[in-house]
Amino acid sequence: MTQIQEDGKRAAGEAALQYVPDGALIGLGTGSTVKYFIMALGEKVKAGFRVQAIPTSQATAHLAQKLNIPLLPFEGEWELDLAVDGADQVDSQFQLIKGGGGALLREKIVAAAARQFIVIVDEAKCVPVLGMPWPIPVEVIPFGWPNTQRHILGLGWASKLRKKNNEVVRTDEGNFILDVEVDRIEDAGTVEAQLNGIPGVVENGLFVNQTSMVIVGGTQGIHIKKRPAH
Ligand code: A5P
Repeated sequence: MTQIQEDGKRAAGEAALQYVPDGALIGLGTGSTVKYFIMALGEKVKAGFRVQAIPTSQATAHLAQKLNIPLLPFEGEWELDLAVDGADQVDSQFQLIKGGGGALLREKIVAAAARQFIVIVDEAKCVPVLGMPWPIPVEVIPFGWPNTQRHILGLGWASKLRKKNNEVVRTDEGNFILDVEVDRIEDAGTVEAQLNGIPGVVENGLFVNQTSMVIVGGTQGIHIKKRPAH
C-alpha cells in the first residue's frame, strides 16, 4: 500500500461524510477505506450529530461501538437512507467487485437496503473492465464445498479456497470463500446470476447496478462520479 493510496482512501472516506444528513439511518461498510469514513462519523457523533447505523461485519461493529455510534438491531428490518462502503474494483459502468475482506454477504444485504449506495475508493481501484488479476470472492457453505467449486469450474472458472495463515477463512456467517478467477467481466449481471445459480453459493462479490455514486480519492484530490438515473 503506497502513501498515495492511503491518502486517497482517507480523502474519499472523509468526503462521504457530506452526504450523511442529521438523523440518518446508515449502512457502514467494511475495510480500510470505510474505516476513515467511520472515524470521521464518530467525531461528528461525539459533537452531537444523530445517526443510527447497521454495520456489515463484526470488525465494523466493534469500531462503531468504540466510537459510540448507535447501532440498529442485526435482525431488524432497516430502510436505510444511505450505505457507504469500499470496493476492490470499480469499472466505468459503476459495477463493483467486493469481498476482499470477506464481508460481501452482509455488504450486499445492506447495500440493497439503502436508497443511496456510496462507494469510496482510491484511484488504484478504478479499472476499465472488472476481473483478473482481482478474483470474484464467492461465499459458499462449507457443506460439500468441493462440489460447489466443481460446478464453478464447469462454467469455465478456476477458483481457490481462501486461507489465511494456512487456516481456511470463515466469514462472519461461518461460511467459506472461493476466489473465482474470471478474466474480463464484460457482462457483470450475467456472471453474477450464473454464480448465484449454483447450489452451495450463498452470494458473490459482484455488485451490479447498486452503486449510486463513486467517490474517488487520488493525487488530484476528490473526484465524484454520479451514476445516471435509470
Ligand atoms: C470487504 O469484504 C470488502 O468488500 C471491502 O469493501 C473491499 O475489500 C474494500 O476494502 P478496502 O477499503 O480495505 O480496500
